[in-house]
Amino acid sequence: MCGIIGYIGPDEAYPILINGLKRLEYRGYDSAGVAVAGDKVRVFKQKGKVNDLEVYVGSKPVPGHLGIGHTRWATHGEPEDKNAHPHRSMHGHFILVHNGIIENYNRLRERLIARGYRFQSDTDTEVLANLIEYIYLKGNIPAEMAIRLALKKVIGAYGLGIICADEPDKLFAVRKGSPLVLGLGEQAHFIASDAPAIMDYTRKVVYLNEDEMAILKSDNLTIQSGKNNFHKPVVNIIDQDIGDLEKGSFPHYMLKEIFEQPASIRDTFRGRISEKPLSLHLGGLFHVLPALMAAPRIIILGCGTSWHAGLIGEYLIEEFARIPVEVEYASEFRYRHPVIHAGDVIIAISQSGETADTMAAIRKAKEAGSVVLGICNVVGSSIPRETVAGVYTHAGPEIGVASTKAFTSQVTVLTMIAMLLAWKKGLLSREQLHGFIHELEMIPGKIQDILEHNHKSIRDLADKYKDVNNFLYLGRGYFFPVALEGALKLKEISYIHAEGYPAAEMKHGPIALIDENMPVVVIAPRDDSYDKIVSNIREIKARKGKVIAIVNEKDTLIRELADHVLEIPSTLQALSPLLAVIPLQLLAYHIAVLRGCNVDQPRNLAKSVTVE
Ligand code: AGP
Repeated sequence: MCGIIGYIGPDEAYPILINGLKRLEYRGYDSAGVAVAGDKVRVFKQKGKVNDLEVYVGSKPVPGHLGIGHTRWATHGEPEDKNAHPHRSMHGHFILVHNGIIENYNRLRERLIARGYRFQSDTDTEVLANLIEYIYLKGNIPAEMAIRLALKKVIGAYGLGIICADEPDKLFAVRKGSPLVLGLGEQAHFIASDAPAIMDYTRKVVYLNEDEMAILKSDNLTIQSGKNNFHKPVVNIIDQDIGDLEKGSFPHYMLKEIFEQPASIRDTFRGRISEKPLSLHLGGLFHVLPALMAAPRIIILGCGTSWHAGLIGEYLIEEFARIPVEVEYASEFRYRHPVIHAGDVIIAISQSGETADTMAAIRKAKEAGSVVLGICNVVGSSIPRETVAGVYTHAGPEIGVASTKAFTSQVTVLTMIAMLLAWKKGLLSREQLHGFIHELEMIPGKIQDILEHNHKSIRDLADKYKDVNNFLYLGRGYFFPVALEGALKLKEISYIHAEGYPAAEMKHGPIALIDENMPVVVIAPRDDSYDKIVSNIREIKARKGKVIAIVNEKDTLIRELADHVLEIPSTLQALSPLLAVIPLQLLAYHIAVLRGCNVDQPRNLAKSVTVE
């Protein structure tokens, strides 16, 4: 998720670009750059934040009334100066900024190299810049036609701002799958991935639709649909204030990120799984697959929510790939004297890629000679640089301290790893793999259902339980780590004491806590231990406990027993954690809001714990 801005008009472009990029840094912040067309097109870009870019440009002249800018959330290519946007085509005819993912960029890059093109970066975006230029020069055609023809060869999602050096009176914008908004100023036009970037200059906006291309001059705007017909732009007036716009229509980043999960999970598996042809491909593990398949044991390291995801990974990998797995708190692993066998493979899980305990545990494992892999969300962060291979979760920036979309993306990656290992070891048939991939592709839609149909009832439930002092969360099998995660969400943002337990553990102590003041969330979708979890609910009810049960749709039995039920769609047992966690995220969020807590920045916590 990157931030794009563009301007064409009577004013100097550079200050407008910089100001707009600062408004967009919440969308991505690992590198930034601008291109301004004056007597020539000057490009300034580098790793770091927008302020670093400003310092880098310093007092250098950046004249021009046409420009584009970009703040990056890396998906391909580490955050380095060379990978920052804008990207200029090899012969300098096109300069562009891109928000999205081009899935077939490797093949396009090879074809361009075969035609004499050379590349300066590792990004998919530079491939697009050179592809447009190649078609433009070969066909000797106008820029907008070259752009159209090039995009017909692209598979993926893009929001683009493009300058053609030969036509410096035009700014081109195209969208497919990534948002783009056009701003209408006084004899000026703007483009942006999000309205906050241009609200200091205009509140009149046009939202570009799928497959549309806009050609913006300072005094004229035309919009061309994918079928090449033009239509009159529909102008909207923005009346929200800037702060709210960065969260879209959401009051908090956490709620926005909960609702982003259908999209973020799609981004996590995009280009990695397909039903026709049947394929499961994790490019980042290609070179270490033999070591993984031969591993006598896999040790998963993590902290907090990442540790919970690791527990689900243990259940998945042991059930399907039959490789022993141990999940360790990184903070414990780093200080105790673990026995690490030659051949053990370590998987470190971290959203931020900067957690100090996880970093230290990785170094301890490397000293023992282990192969260490990473599952991270922030491209180019410290942990991916410390590990020999890994898988990026592609969940996009997670701003809220309480991790939500990163967790479900981590679990999605672990599911793909377990399936890949099982398949390669011959433990999963093509039919079974196809079934998994089909169901995994259905998960985003099922999460959307939960978000649409459960949100109000969860908010009502939160109102009933916002003043309690304790909560218990219980689950069996795959739902035990989900119980831990639900408890962590509640305690870290509402400050209510909450504990997660394996449901069967109740009789070994926790059941002493049960009385009419103890709400118990029981995660009870139909699975192998359904009858057992029903018994646990009966035990709680026999002691007057209040039961909030997460059940599959049409579950009539538990509806009779529990005080409240929250329904989730059915899916494969191994994929159910991705659905069961959603109501728990929403319950924690609404209780915290009702208690007046600072949901996005809870007391005593930080988004990335870079200290011990
Ligand atoms: C989860 O909601 C918390 N913010 C926290 O437990 C977090 O998961 C933990 O600090 C690990 O962070 P990481 O994934 O960035 O390494």
